[in-house]
Amino acid sequence: MTEVMIIGGGSGMGLALARTVLAEGMDVTIVGRSADRLAEAQADLSAYGKAAAVPADIGREEDVAGLFERVGRADHVAVTAADVTGVYGPTAGVATEAARAVVDTKLFGAWLVGKYAAGRVTGSITYTSGINAYRPNGANTIVAAANGALASLAYGLAVELAPVRVNVLSPGWVDTPVWDRIGMDRQAAFTEMAERLPARRIGTAEDIARAFTSLMGNGYVTGTVLHVDGGHRLV
Ligand SMILES: NC(=O)c1ccc[n+]([C@@H]2O[C@H](COP(=O)([O-])OP(=O)(O)OC[C@H]3O[C@@H](n4cnc5c(N)ncnc54)[C@H](OP(=O)(O)O)[C@@H]3O)[C@@H](O)[C@H]2O)c1
Repeated sequence: MTEVMIIGGGSGMGLALARTVLAEGMDVTIVGRSADRLAEAQADLSAYGKAAAVPADIGREEDVAGLFERVGRADHVAVTAADVTGVYGPTAGVATEAARAVVDTKLFGAWLVGKYAAGRVTGSITYTSGINAYRPNGANTIVAAANGALASLAYGLAVELAPVRVNVLSPGWVDTPVWDRIGMDRQAAFTEMAERLPARRIGTAEDIARAFTSLMGNGYVTGTVLHVDGGHRLV
């Protein structure tokens, strides 16, 4: 049985990926900080199959070490976890602890996954970056930096952990719960962005889930950033 671990699988893109891989008959472990969120996700997923859940904070080494010890082995790991609380806005106004938290979870956490996955993951690791690495807007600089650095991390790990494949999926704007915490008029922003994008719509978590399974399943793709952004980099 193919085992897939989804760190960040309690909501948004990670949860959509969990639905997809369960529906395809794979075994799934979802990981996140909040036990309540994981329990809600397990209830949602029960229509597709039984998902295991492990609470862990990707930014804490002891949690990541314990997670891999507990799960033992996995064919594929997908990482969608990131703490982006309070990091949007001009750099001068962003609290340093918030900036550190996004780097700790998005970049350092990804490195911890590479560290503890060695010898335990056999197929692939896929990280999630984001469009702001390629289209900074003056209000997302530290997130953009963490996202951009993920590509270099994946290139390095793709060489180091070979034949395990390591890739990055870079989403554009996707309608997920993260937007509830960003503090902008989501509907107005989505309408304006949809008009601008060549795809003429905002992405869905399912668009991203399909791209994740494609990266997991294609044995010749490694050390690559796959952009799933509706053409956002072009406009
Ligand atoms: N949505 C977009 O438009 C968009 C665009 C570009 C890039 N992205 C990136 O895509 C990824 C997925 O985002 P999403 O839209 O699916 O957001 P989401 O619904 O907020 O999902 C993020 C998940 O990560 C978990 N998480 C957060 N911090 C964690 C930590 N320290 N350790 C373990 N789990 C943690 C959260 O659960 P807990 O809070 O319970 O831990 C949550 O389930 C993120 O990296 C985000 O930056 C999103």
